[in-house]
Amino acid sequence: MEPLAHLVKVSIPNYLAGLPIPESIGGWFRLGVRDWAALIPPTAVLAGIGYMSYKAFCPLARGPPCGRVNHTIKKDVNKVVDTVDIEDITEKVVYCRCWRSQNWPYCDGSHGRHNQETNDNVGPLVVTKKKD
Ligand code: FES
Repeated sequence: MEPLAHLVKVSIPNYLAGLPIPESIGGWFRLGVRDWAALIPPTAVLAGIGYMSYKAFCPLARGPPCGRVNHTIKKDVNKVVDTVDIEDITEKVVYCRCWRSQNWPYCDGSHGRHNQETNDNVGPLVVTKKKD
């Protein structure tokens, strides 16, 4: 533990105290090439921590978990297959393509919330009966 304590209590504070961080905004314009070079490593570390935090806590950055699109529908079967008799379609039927509908396989409008949360653009499949 001694080396870790020394690192946290002495080495890192001494390193940070030695960085050429100006006291004023105008001081940034007076920094030399060596000063800017000295600021690259801590800036890279801060950017890395910021990026990893973004990836860890921002849902949009994480993307769909494990690449799955189906999170809730018929999870007890190996493959979700729905069959609809074409003769049962009266005028129009609207099928879900976003996998978020609570009324599967029909669209219940849940795609709107999904699109808002993920910046996606999915929508339903609308099947209409051909008029004679
Ligand atoms: S609810 Fe899934 S497409 Fe509308």
